[in-house]
Amino acid sequence: VTAPLFLPATPLRDDAANVVLRPWGRRPDAEALVAAWNDPDVARWTRVPAERSVIAAQRWIDGEGRRRADGVAIDLGVADATDPDRVLGEVGLAVLDSDRGWAEAGWWLTPTARGRGLATTALSLVTAWALNDLPVALVFARTQLANPASAAVAERAGFTFAGHADDGSRVWRSP
Ligand SMILES: CC(C)(COP(=O)(O)OP(=O)(O)OC[C@H]1O[C@@H](n2cnc3c(N)ncnc32)[C@H](O)[C@@H]1OP(=O)(O)O)[C@@H](O)C(=O)NCCC(=O)NCCS
Repeated sequence: VTAPLFLPATPLRDDAANVVLRPWGRRPDAEALVAAWNDPDVARWTRVPAERSVIAAQRWIDGEGRRRADGVAIDLGVADATDPDRVLGEVGLAVLDSDRGWAEAGWWLTPTARGRGLATTALSLVTAWALNDLPVALVFARTQLANPASAAVAERAGFTFAGHADDGSRVWRSP
């Protein structure tokens, strides 16, 4: 049975780390998303569409509510708590198996936002919230062998290594 997902009642935040996770919004977010899709690291390690226009980005943003209502996925923007309008990254959960309550986390940061723990904090926040508030029992993450920066995010967020997937990628499970 696919249960609808929902946004956090109030934006998820870690004040000590100055991080807030908030819903995707209008125009400036779409431009930030296009820039991220065009970043070589984001394009290499995450699923990005062939069409990387502002219109395509706005379409993806506008589709978030539908994906959430359908119980498919939830996607949140990562921002500094002191500057929440400027999106610096993304953290999302895609439902893998709704009967078992399995979800897979994904994330990226815009290049200038890397190196200060934003992705680790974002993954920790969304995982703790999902396990508590969503019909989610286990969060997985999957990182490619050649992408150690991403494996480090999973590890720092307390995920444990669960093994290698058939394609050789590393699978991590939530604490
Ligand atoms: C994966 C990705 C998000 C990692 O970004 P990141 O900035 O290295 O990750 P974090 O936000 O967790 O920051 C960790 C870095 O900040 C440092 N840091 C500083 N303060 C920190 C804090 N309070 N908490 C954690 N780390 C902190 C860490 O030491 C680390 O730096 P280092 O790599 O030089 O050791 C980024 O490389 C990216 O967007 N890549 C492309 C997309 C991608 O690969 N997505 C994942 C697909 S599975």
